[in-house]
Amino acid sequence: MEQSPVIKFFSGEEIPVELHKVRIVQKLHLNPIEERLGAIREAGYNSFLLSTRNVFLDMLTDSGTNAMSDNQIASMLRADDAYAGSQSFERLQEAIQDVFGAKYFLPVHQGRAAEHIIFQAFVKPGDIIPMNYHFTTTKAHIEIPGGTILEIYHDDAVQIKSTKPFKGDIDIEKLKNVIAKHGAEHVPLVRMEASTNLLGGQPFSMANMREVRAICDKHNIPLIMDASLIGENAYFIKQREAEFKNTPIKDILLLMCGLCDVVYFSSRKVSSTRGGGIFTNNVKYYDMLKDMVILYEGFLTYGGCSIREIEAMAVGLRETQDETVISQSPSFIKFLVESLDAKGIPVVTPAGALGCHVDATGFLPHVPQSEYPAGALVAAFYLVSGVRGMERGTVSSVRDADGNDVLADLELMRLAMPRRVFTLSQVKYVLDRLDWLYQNRELIGGLKFYYEPKVLRFFMGKMEPTSPWPEKLMAKFRADFGNSL
Ligand code: F0G
Repeated sequence: MEQSPVIKFFSGEEIPVELHKVRIVQKLHLNPIEERLGAIREAGYNSFLLSTRNVFLDMLTDSGTNAMSDNQIASMLRADDAYAGSQSFERLQEAIQDVFGAKYFLPVHQGRAAEHIIFQAFVKPGDIIPMNYHFTTTKAHIEIPGGTILEIYHDDAVQIKSTKPFKGDIDIEKLKNVIAKHGAEHVPLVRMEASTNLLGGQPFSMANMREVRAICDKHNIPLIMDASLIGENAYFIKQREAEFKNTPIKDILLLMCGLCDVVYFSSRKVSSTRGGGIFTNNVKYYDMLKDMVILYEGFLTYGGCSIREIEAMAVGLRETQDETVISQSPSFIKFLVESLDAKGIPVVTPAGALGCHVDATGFLPHVPQSEYPAGALVAAFYLVSGVRGMERGTVSSVRDADGNDVLADLELMRLAMPRRVFTLSQVKYVLDRLDWLYQNRELIGGLKFYYEPKVLRFFMGKMEPTSPWPEKLMAKFRADFGNSL
């Protein structure tokens, strides 16, 4: 029986034991804090601009960083390199059919390429796109053809501390009101994102998806799912929704996809290899999208991916049916989140997918939102630990037409937990250094931009501290840890 890797110990503790062995390893560098200060300064206090040479644990993202399985790597050797009609593509198509129940499949080079193609095809100027929550690239690709996103999550979904199992649900009343207000003709699709990334990796329930489907049917609006984190969402449905507690993950995946008209995914997340794809059972949508794949991505049997990636994607997608695989990251996240919560460190609960999300507003109440508390927390945590997280707050937002910052709903430091990459002692190190930082949080100050690109500024923007707080934090670290790394 496949099951989640949480094992009951004789001591009574429940420990997420690694149900895999490590067969290829990469040496990591834990540099002294003085070197880390130089590195983060040079990176403009932006973790995207750090070299992994200066990073100990890379928790920036799970995108393209999940461990590949032996079977995925083995599959790459039988790649049938051909521009057109590759048998590797046939194997990928079969995997899509078996795992997601879809007949028509279009490969693309990564998730945002799927968004580019889908939203160009579906969205017209003035359209409204309701969704549980946006992702950065989704919003950009909806706004380019003139659409506006509308986030219709339940009001309490942005509450940091919660016991609500499905914070990624769409608020059904809000959805009905949006359609009534704007008219179904201006709502070209409804988008549901599995394990909603920017809400803290929070899943939606099957019950909610069924209700959304019924409303879409009533108004003849297509339902489109972003399945980049579908495996984890299926796992949470099994864990948290009574009706599915005995349903195999593979059946939950089929049920979820069966409720959608079009599904797309970033393979960098779902199947640990570069690439992405779009699938549907509706030939009308397939025809509508396929020409753009040829135009922007590549021929229909590779879509901008290497054939090796096509093979590895097929195997990786099949592995999402394996509960021990898809539950590995959520069970480590749960361990970290619950340990932090027990110490009173503010963190998004319940634990979700993708990573642990530390609440920078609660961590640094003395840093105003205009000085980017989440950005400051990411920089401070890197400095004291060598762990690289990602800012998910106002730095990741954009300015309005008048040049004012649009303050984010949530100021989060995301510590991603790529699948089957870290060990539990590494996770315990993260916990320890965060605990220390929390005890010394009053030493952390704010940041301000000195170089700010107009588009997606969080990638390349550079900032500086508003006071010499990093030096003070380093001095305290040395006082407490002596010469230790
Ligand atoms: N949709 C979701 C929900 C995502 O999380 C991402 C990427 C994309 C679409 C875009 O996919 O990167 O392959 O083009 N998320 C990464 C992250 C970047 O770090 O969370 P892509």
